Amino acid sequence: MKTEQETILILGATGKTGRRIVQRLKAAGRPVRLGSRGASPAFDWDDQSTWGAALDGIHAVYLSFQPDLAVPGALETIQAFTDQAVNSGVRKLVLLSGRGEIEAEQAEHVIQSSGLDWTILRASWFAQNFSEAHFLEPILQGEFVLPVGNIAEPFIDAEDIAEIAVAALTQPGHSNQLYELTGPRALTFAEAVKEIARETNRDIHFTSISAHDYRQALEQEQLPAEVIDLVLYLFTTVLDGRNTPLADGVQRALGRPARDFSDYVRRTAATGVWANKG
Ligand SMILES: NC(=O)c1ccc[n+]([C@@H]2O[C@H](COP(=O)([O-])OP(=O)(O)OC[C@H]3O[C@@H](n4cnc5c(N)ncnc54)[C@H](OP(=O)(O)O)[C@@H]3O)[C@@H](O)[C@H]2O)c1
Repeated sequence: MKTEQETILILGATGKTGRRIVQRLKAAGRPVRLGSRGASPAFDWDDQSTWGAALDGIHAVYLSFQPDLAVPGALETIQAFTDQAVNSGVRKLVLLSGRGEIEAEQAEHVIQSSGLDWTILRASWFAQNFSEAHFLEPILQGEFVLPVGNIAEPFIDAEDIAEIAVAALTQPGHSNQLYELTGPRALTFAEAVKEIARETNRDIHFTSISAHDYRQALEQEQLPAEVIDLVLYLFTTVLDGRNTPLADGVQRALGRPARDFSDYVRRTAATGVWANKG
């Protein structure tokens, strides 16, 4: 039987979903421990010696992995972390997973066979990538160049993910559920950028280039090889249309439709984050 005092560990606590989950749990008066390299105790996926202190006394964990469940070695890390969570007395795991990634599904199986109560949030691309991540800069520059064509993606609002994660971490009814999470509408990147341009009253050009040219551009920026490989994997292998169909995870989990991309665009434009350059 859960009590109000059971502490919840939020990994990726400073990230797009984690930050929103922490805010909601704190507002509800729930004890929360932040999982972040800058937190105390610190949590670092690359330093297993930090995991014990982060897990000590924890009842439930929101598991958001870095950089992506598809990278080499991720499966072994998830297995090792899950084993340690079980040994530490954790009862519940909520995994943030990615849609259309075979490697992510293998990590899901680790959680599903852990013996713990689990909930899996298998998410499409986040709308917040346009305002809190790598897509912000091109939006500000007004020049958006990506190796994607007319593939439509049903962007999910990180607010919806956070709301579902909090429900799964604190309320009954989400045990052993896999929620496939998408927005209510699939948009191409060109259409998404157009919506942002219209709402902010700015010119933002979208250009599609080949994966080969995009790789060369990233190499010129001297990004690490593994980062380039991951980015190309996400834009080519995963973004091939397999994730265009809508899913009903938000409706199933919350009993209401998912927030639309236009709702995200209106809210975000009002913060001024897209108005700095032009
Ligand atoms: N973005 C999307 O569209 C999308 C879609 C589906 C699934 N996902 C999945 O969601 C997860 C989060 O990805 P995101 O890109 O959205 O990132 P994010 O959660 O916005 O930000 C990264 C978070 O991870 C933490 N972090 C970074 N390196 C870490 C490390 N070595 N050890 C511990 N924590 C670390 C950061 O905290 P500190 O810097 O404070 O340590 C920060 O809280 C990934 O597993 C990704 O595959 C993302």
